[in-house]
Amino acid sequence: MSSSVEYAKAPNYVKNAKLVAWVAEMAALTKPADVYWCDGSEEEYAAMCQRLVDAGTFKKLNEAKRPNSFLACSDPSDVARVEDRTFICSEKKENAGPTNNWMAPAEMRATLQPLFDGCMKGRTMYVIPFSMGPLGSPIAHIGIELTDSAYVVANQKIMTRMGKAVYDVLGTDGEFVPCMHTVGAPLEPGQADVTWPCNKNKYICHFPETREIWSFGSGYGGNALLGKKCFALRIASNMARDEGWLAEHMMILGVTTPEGKKYHVAAAFPSACGKTNFAMLVPPAGFEGWKVTTVGDDIAWIKPIDGKMYAINPEAGYFGVAPGTNFHTNQNCMSSLNKNVIYTNVGLTDDGDVWWEGMEDDNGGVKPAHLIDWQGKDWTPEIAKQTGAKAAHPNARFTVAAINNKALDPEWDNPKGVVIDAFMFGGRRSTTVPLATEARSWVEGVYMAATMGSETTAAAVGQMGVVRRDPFAMLPFCGYNMSDYFQHWLNVGAKFKAAGQSLPNIYCVNWFRKDANGKFVWPGYSDNMRVLKWIIDRVEGKAVGVDTMFGRAPLFDELTWNGLNFSAEQFKTVTSIDKAAWAEELKLHEAHFQQLAYHLPKELVETKALFAKQLAA
Ligand code: GTP
Ligand code: SPV
Ligand code: MN
Repeated sequence: MSSSVEYAKAPNYVKNAKLVAWVAEMAALTKPADVYWCDGSEEEYAAMCQRLVDAGTFKKLNEAKRPNSFLACSDPSDVARVEDRTFICSEKKENAGPTNNWMAPAEMRATLQPLFDGCMKGRTMYVIPFSMGPLGSPIAHIGIELTDSAYVVANQKIMTRMGKAVYDVLGTDGEFVPCMHTVGAPLEPGQADVTWPCNKNKYICHFPETREIWSFGSGYGGNALLGKKCFALRIASNMARDEGWLAEHMMILGVTTPEGKKYHVAAAFPSACGKTNFAMLVPPAGFEGWKVTTVGDDIAWIKPIDGKMYAINPEAGYFGVAPGTNFHTNQNCMSSLNKNVIYTNVGLTDDGDVWWEGMEDDNGGVKPAHLIDWQGKDWTPEIAKQTGAKAAHPNARFTVAAINNKALDPEWDNPKGVVIDAFMFGGRRSTTVPLATEARSWVEGVYMAATMGSETTAAAVGQMGVVRRDPFAMLPFCGYNMSDYFQHWLNVGAKFKAAGQSLPNIYCVNWFRKDANGKFVWPGYSDNMRVLKWIIDRVEGKAVGVDTMFGRAPLFDELTWNGLNFSAEQFKTVTSIDKAAWAEELKLHEAHFQQLAYHLPKELVETKALFAKQLAA
């Protein structure tokens, strides 16, 4: 690896004057020991991993069991997104809206300036060129991340199209989103480093007008891999609104019927609520001839062109939740984790392999007799029983390239994108919300998505398991006023309608209803294929369903039950609409709408009144 202490000195293949000047300016501000321009090569990735091993950040896993794979364990204070430290710094407060933390741009810049001044002392500043979406695709956009974390560099190599070729697309005057990141832990001369540098003080900041990202103090996930939530959702949602497209927290799958017809479905579920799982779904026994393929597992960029919704996955890898993943719940995912993976915050077994809660299901319920947990402590099943200690943090994740996934859709890298036939929205709700319903209109679908509730998960720091409204699964990711975002969705639909074009169907789903004993009633995972098939049947006009107060629902006999014992009684448990519960639910929608009153589209208020009327009938 060559590096340069001459801050402004870019390699000769970097010809974008604005970029060269920005890097020089940021180097002068953050004062790194040197600046390294990443080329994205395999040699560079190997060198980066070695650097992380030497620093103690990475542990190399058993080469026979997990070739070319590494384990990183973070500081226990830096394990998830920090929503309370995430800011939308629009000029006007009302443009950030009531669901975002806001600070005026000038005030935030004044706050960040002293924090970034000298923040990279004693470290290397890495310049990471990346494309969100296939290089040169009309739907893709370029970002440049500056970071003092080699862990971020290694992850970005997997998660994005990263490397030299980006500069060819950028040319001399192409546009890029500047993504400034530091762990916020400068080193004084002679000061020993820690294995996971970070800062107690954190700021994850977005400037929508100038399309900039400034992230301070965290090295973890969405706080630090700035192409993901910060760029592809918070900044891109602003671009999308201005330019008439959609930037969504959605997975995208392809589904091929036994007759060989192929459809594409995009689904928005909140963080750690099953997108990765659904994107890699293996159809259960009894669904011979059906094939599900992955286009994306977390983010979709969707452009309406000539009456069709063309979607791409802007990412090139998966940063997925490890706990709960096993060969029973997600066979394709487990198979993809056999080589070239970065694991973060999982357990390390005595033979140099990884382990997390849920893997015992692949081993007859037997857990390892001993391992080192994500905090570096001894862990045994006995200790776990006594103290509740977890081998893996509940938000432990794997970073793996999309090309490792054997169910990868052949169109995943197509710069044109794939045409979406149906949208799905689904929260984690142990009560109230039925297994599946179809919106009877675009407006009704937007209402379902806008009022979606979900129990909070370990994906963000904070209390777990409390129901909160998570509209479109975008609560932490919408980079502007949420009511304006609803209006944008309505506008997209209205434009199709005005042109006489048909829109994708919209579905509301819930895999998470529980029984009186607190157990999930719906088997979920592979069995979600049964609902997906009903959705395709509806798209093809083969199923009819039945009208309910909250949309059109599948009849018991319309789902394919091959290979599963699921009684009509159990079906009722997951599909019933409890009037009293829905009266309470509509009160929550009302409170939600009151919070979002500024610019709230009147169509949504009218739809709510219709639901209330139907409930009373
Ligand atoms: P982010 O990457 O955080 O955006 O989340 P994701 O939506 O991709 O989440 P993921 O697919 O990784 O879901 C992880 C959690 O959901 C784990 O706890 C899984 O066990 C659980 N899960 C996924 N699918 C199902 C399902 O069909 N039923 C049930 N009960 N749990 C599920
Ligand atoms: C999520 O929290 O929705 C994620 C993980 O996909 S992170 O990239 O950390 O935001
Ligand atoms: Mn996500």
